[in-house]
Amino acid sequence: MQPDEFAGATRWVPQNGGIRKLRAALSDCRGCDLQEYAERVVPGEGPVRARMMLVGETPGDVEDKEGHVFVGPAGRLLDKALAEAGIDRSEVYLTNAVKHFRFERQGKRRIHKTPAVGHIVACHPWLDRELTIVKPELVVILGAVAARSLLGTGFKVTEHRGERVELPDGRAAVATVHPSAVVRSQEFRRDFADFVKDLRAAAGLLA
Ligand code: URA
Ligand code: SF4
Repeated sequence: MQPDEFAGATRWVPQNGGIRKLRAALSDCRGCDLQEYAERVVPGEGPVRARMMLVGETPGDVEDKEGHVFVGPAGRLLDKALAEAGIDRSEVYLTNAVKHFRFERQGKRRIHKTPAVGHIVACHPWLDRELTIVKPELVVILGAVAARSLLGTGFKVTEHRGERVELPDGRAAVATVHPSAVVRSQEFRRDFADFVKDLRAAAGLLA
């Protein structure tokens, strides 16, 4: 199946109820092909009344095995950056634009592969429903995949990082890079500092 032929998640997303109902429905989703290969679905986590929602890309290898968001290398970096920016991880809602891990096998290893636009579009109804339930005042967009999901084509994170932007529904958002880009960076100190700066700017919008 080609990514532009996916059914999309809509028919699996409950249109009433809260986060618990959403979580329970998530593992049944057949909105795209990623559920055929991943170990498990990785739902969003955090307080349902969070003022800030952070949206990543897709679970990684560790997240897929453990079933929790941002618990691998990118998650450890994110934790450190949030702490430096004065943001308490336990007070934010963390989720991904695409809820199943996408990867390529290389021998025994599973190498992360960026979701195609078809996966991002197919999975968007889950994110949309999370936004409706959690109603965050501010959304932090972590990287290009989350930006594609929430802002469509034509938005470049590098041109607008750290700025206040608006989602189509008028909700405030700040876009920044994905923490795994910082993990891999050749200029780690600079890129980590810039990432923290964007997170601090986001926190400042809530203050
Ligand atoms: N990268 C993401 O975007 N999300 C995770 O949960 C882990 C790594
Ligand atoms: Fe459904 Fe999203 Fe998983 Fe695709 S990635 S099967 S749309 S939950």
